[in-house]
Amino acid sequence: MKVLILGSKGRLGSALLRRWSTLSQISEVIALTRTQVDLSDPDAAEAGLSSQSFGAGDVVINCAAATDVDGCERDPETALRINFLTPERLARLCASRGARLVHIGTDYVFDGALDRPYTEEDEPRPLSHYGESKLRGDRAVLAESPLHCVVRVSWVFGPDKSSFVDAIVRRALTNPEAAAVHDKTSSPAYTEDLALWLEQFLKPSLPGGIYHLCNRGTCSWRDYGEYALECAKRHGVPVLTTTVAPLTLADMKTFVAMRPPHTSLDTGKFTRATGITPRPWKEAVEEYFSTWKA
Ligand SMILES: NC(=O)c1ccc[n+]([C@@H]2O[C@H](COP(=O)([O-])OP(=O)(O)OC[C@H]3O[C@@H](n4cnc5c(N)ncnc54)[C@H](OP(=O)(O)O)[C@@H]3O)[C@@H](O)[C@H]2O)c1
Repeated sequence: MKVLILGSKGRLGSALLRRWSTLSQISEVIALTRTQVDLSDPDAAEAGLSSQSFGAGDVVINCAAATDVDGCERDPETALRINFLTPERLARLCASRGARLVHIGTDYVFDGALDRPYTEEDEPRPLSHYGESKLRGDRAVLAESPLHCVVRVSWVFGPDKSSFVDAIVRRALTNPEAAAVHDKTSSPAYTEDLALWLEQFLKPSLPGGIYHLCNRGTCSWRDYGEYALECAKRHGVPVLTTTVAPLTLADMKTFVAMRPPHTSLDTGKFTRATGITPRPWKEAVEEYFSTWKA
C-alpha cells in the first residue's frame, strides 16, 4: 500500500510522516508539500496530485489546510479554496482511482453551545469562516466516495510545530505571570497519538464516514496551560510560574473570528470501530514535556 501525505510539513503531517515511514504495511510514503500540491489553486492542486502514481487500495491523507482561524476570517475566499474547493477536487480524483482520502477536520465546525462532548451525529453550526470552510470541505469529501473519511481533531499539539502549550511554557521562562482563557473548553490531541490511531484508517475494513479523534477528557485553555507548566517544571524546564490567571473569551480583543466555547469531542465511534480508547490528555501532555526543548 502506498500512502500520500498532503501537508507533510505541518504539525500533524510531520508526525505522520515520521511514524508512517516505519510501518511495514506501507510500501511507500510520499510526502507532499505546497510545492507539489498548492491547495489555494484547485486546478494546479488536482494536476499535482494527479501526476503522482497511486491507485486502488492506496490512501491519501490530507493534513493540509488554511488553519489560521483569524486569517480565514479576513480572507474567506482563500479559506474556501484551500479547505473546501480543492479537497472536493482531490476527493473526486481519489475516488476515480479507488483510493481512500482521509481528510482531517476540526471541532470548529460546531458552535460550542452543547454541555457534553460532540458526537459525529451532532449538527454542526460553525461560527467562523474557518469553521464554515472546513465543514463544507468535510461534506464535499464524503459526498465523493463511501470509502473516504473525515477525521475531526481538536487542540493539536506536538513536537514538530509550536502550539498553545509551547507558547505558554516558553513565555514562562522569562515572565512570572501567565494567563489563559478559562471559559473555553475542548480536548487536546497529541500528534504522536494521532499518528498511531490514524493507522486504523489504512485498513479498508474500517467504514468510511466521520470520526472524532483526540485524547480523552475535557479541559479549558487555562487548565491545559497550567498542567503544561506543571509538567514542564517536573521535567526540569526552568519556568517562573505554574499558576495561570483566568481570562475570558470576551477579554481576547485580538481575536477576529468568533471561537466556539465548548467543543470537546466524543471519540466513542472510533473506539467502537477499532477497540482503541484514546489515553487521557494529561498522560499525553506529561509525555510530551518529558523530552521538551525550549
Ligand atoms: N492545530 C489545531 O489545533 C487544530 C485543531 C483542530 C483541527 N485541526 C486540523 O488539523 C489539520 C492539521 O493541522 P495542523 O495543526 O497540523 O496545521 P499546520 O501545522 O498549520 O499545518 C497545515 C499544513 O497545511 C499546509 N498548507 C497551508 N496552506 C496550503 C496550501 N495552500 N497548499 C498546500 N499546503 C498548504 C501547510 O504548509 P506549509 O508548511 O508550507 O505552511 C502545513 O503543512 C488541519 O486540517 C486543521 O484544520 C487543527
